[in-house]
Amino acid sequence: MRLLVVANRAPIRKTDTGWSPSIGGLATALLPVLEEQGGVWVSMGEEPDLPERQPYPAEDPNFHVRRVPLTQETLDNYYYGMSNRVLWPLSHYMIEHMELNDDFYADYRDVNRRFAEAVVEEAQEGDQVWVQDYHLMLAPHFIRERWPEATIGHFWHIPWPAMEVFRILPQARDLLRGMLGCDLIGFHVDEYVNNFIESARVLLGAHVERNIIHWQGREVRIETHPLGIDTGRFQQMTEEKETQEAVQNLRDETGTEHLVLGIDRMDYTKGILRRLLAFEKFLEDYPAYHERVSFYQIATPSRTKLETYQQMKREVDEAVGRINGQFGTDTWVPVYYRYRKYTQRKLCAFYNAASVCFITPLRDGMNLVAQEYVTSNDGGVLVLSELTGASYVLDQAVKVNPYDHKALAEAIREALEMPEDERKERLRELKEATARLDVHRWADRFLKAMDRVAVA
Ligand code: G6P
Repeated sequence: MRLLVVANRAPIRKTDTGWSPSIGGLATALLPVLEEQGGVWVSMGEEPDLPERQPYPAEDPNFHVRRVPLTQETLDNYYYGMSNRVLWPLSHYMIEHMELNDDFYADYRDVNRRFAEAVVEEAQEGDQVWVQDYHLMLAPHFIRERWPEATIGHFWHIPWPAMEVFRILPQARDLLRGMLGCDLIGFHVDEYVNNFIESARVLLGAHVERNIIHWQGREVRIETHPLGIDTGRFQQMTEEKETQEAVQNLRDETGTEHLVLGIDRMDYTKGILRRLLAFEKFLEDYPAYHERVSFYQIATPSRTKLETYQQMKREVDEAVGRINGQFGTDTWVPVYYRYRKYTQRKLCAFYNAASVCFITPLRDGMNLVAQEYVTSNDGGVLVLSELTGASYVLDQAVKVNPYDHKALAEAIREALEMPEDERKERLRELKEATARLDVHRWADRFLKAMDRVAVA
């Protein structure tokens, strides 16, 4: 049975030598499925000279990438506007960053309709459709209108907020109706499932029975499917000689006994600034750790056209400068800060070298960095914000409220002073939990659930 994946970003990217698969978790999970079953991946065409229909691999194609071409203005409204200045902050409970605008929504609707048309054009009998994330909330409804008997799934990769927050959005009901074009909708954790069901029940008056929403004569199943990483790939890469050399270089570079690590996209949801301020407090409160601990923050550039992201970067830049200015010595750099993208191998080296991974988003749908750390490390401590999806599935992390300045600083000390036995035991359990979430198993489970709704 062929699969039609519908996602904002394409799963392949242009390199100096041709095309290769993207590294992201979704491409890693779904490319093997497309290779085996065939199908089409429908994504946005953000650059005008990219082919609209591209067989991949070119020589002996297993599937096609189909692009929905967007003009700059449409991209600005649909992606930078509705997706990233409305749905993103709203879903992460950061309504102060929300910018409502009618043009954003008009183009968002239009792009979703064009994605749906592309899907229907590509469809063959028996195909299943799997739509991804908040960029494409209306596509399921538009597909259903044109192809009533389709089997349509949707996976939502970010938090689904409490109903009372979701209803702030003027288009909340329209967007919900769009999602209910599906047969199956997946979320990372039960909390988001419950919030979604509550939104449909209260805002649309939908009839709900346990995790089934009855809608326009159909049943829509709402399920929990926590997303994982490619654990095998991270394990293997960590062991490779080249990675271990990078670990050694990193240790030589910093020279401190302990490395506390943060890795995130540069995004206001990640809590990078508060994390730095907590490290600053830790240094103030525990001078005995001066010269012995460095904090290494890697921030990957993201959505850089948006003013809120630029502003946040300025604040982070400033905080790093201040902390290093105040505490740094000739032999010690308290905070290393890199604003750039690293290869996966280099990230593995960071994970492996760090005594503590300090992951404190103000809100996060899942957080895969937490899983990458526990998979690639062998003696460290994961400090994790309790406002992440990951905190529901990674029980043995040291959990912390990312808004609690004192508790954050204390968590660093607690992690550094945790007895070896406890560290080892927690990490062992964290590795087991992460292995159960493996991204290939995630895709497999979701697709099996799709098979079940298809025959129902
Ligand atoms: C989040 C979203 C993804 C998105 C990613 C990167 O994880 O859930 O859908 O692809 O951020 O953001 P970007 O805007 O660069 O695609």
